[in-house]
Amino acid sequence: MVSRFEGKVVIVTGAGSGIGAATVRRFHAEGASVVLCGRREAKLVQVGASLGTNRYIIQPADVTIVEHVERLVAEATRRFGRIDVLVNNAGAGTVGEFQGLSSEQWHNMFAVNVDGVFNLTRAALPRLIETKGAIVNVSSVSGLGGDRGLSFYNATKGAVSNLTRSLAIELAVKGVRVNAVCPSVTFTDMNMPIFERVPELLDRLVERIPMARGAQPEEIASVIAFLASADASFVNGVNLPVDGGVSASSGQANFM
Ligand SMILES: NC(=O)c1ccc[n+]([C@@H]2O[C@H](COP(=O)([O-])OP(=O)(O)OC[C@H]3O[C@@H](n4cnc5c(N)ncnc54)[C@H](O)[C@@H]3O)[C@@H](O)[C@H]2O)c1
Repeated sequence: MVSRFEGKVVIVTGAGSGIGAATVRRFHAEGASVVLCGRREAKLVQVGASLGTNRYIIQPADVTIVEHVERLVAEATRRFGRIDVLVNNAGAGTVGEFQGLSSEQWHNMFAVNVDGVFNLTRAALPRLIETKGAIVNVSSVSGLGGDRGLSFYNATKGAVSNLTRSLAIELAVKGVRVNAVCPSVTFTDMNMPIFERVPELLDRLVERIPMARGAQPEEIASVIAFLASADASFVNGVNLPVDGGVSASSGQANFM
């Protein structure tokens, strides 16, 4: 494995599972010191222990709570002296018809998926400007278009994708690049319980994926690492689909 991140410090939110845990492992394997942020300490400890070095710290934090996030950035800076990369990965989903969902669910969705990104970005930005670092947001193909039964999630991920674009434009002069990955179905804690309960949902989703399968978290993590790396030094403001070809479709039915 190449060492693109030796001497660099990377914060990953939602680091205890799924895409976040895979992202921690990827950056660490490429030489980075990693700050593992999440709500569930036991999960973070498990991921940290799997790394096999002490080039990491565990920072239990709820991204919706400003004091937690500020403490996390202060602790990362105290321990490692710098922050080079912020991966805003923590997120949650809500499935259901628009009229059947509550305003509480709407506000909770926005708190995690949008306020969380805002809070971390605001708190880490001064350090990222110092290092001319990079932000990678984990949006979704659901941030690029609408899905029946995902309106709340679509609204939050649309906000993340467009914030990615505007921050990329604004922060370019300060040397900070901002990009996003937009995965489609990825096998993680977020959706496995749903697929176990409703297997035909996975069949329906995979039917629309030209590559005819979902992604493993490592296939998203490697693209996050690319966007954060010097290999992507002139890539700024993209919402990169990592979706097996889903977003290449016009959405029309099969003509053949
Ligand atoms: N799995 C998919 O199919 C898929 C597809 C597209 C985008 N995504 C996005 O990928 C990201 C990671 O999700 P995942 O699929 O790995 O699922 P996951 O449930 O394994 O990971 C989400 C992580 O975020 C953490 N989290 C949630 N709320 C938090 C909060 N308030 N503070 C701190 N941490 C919090 C969770 O504890 C969990 O560890 C999410 O932003 C999700 O929207 C997932």
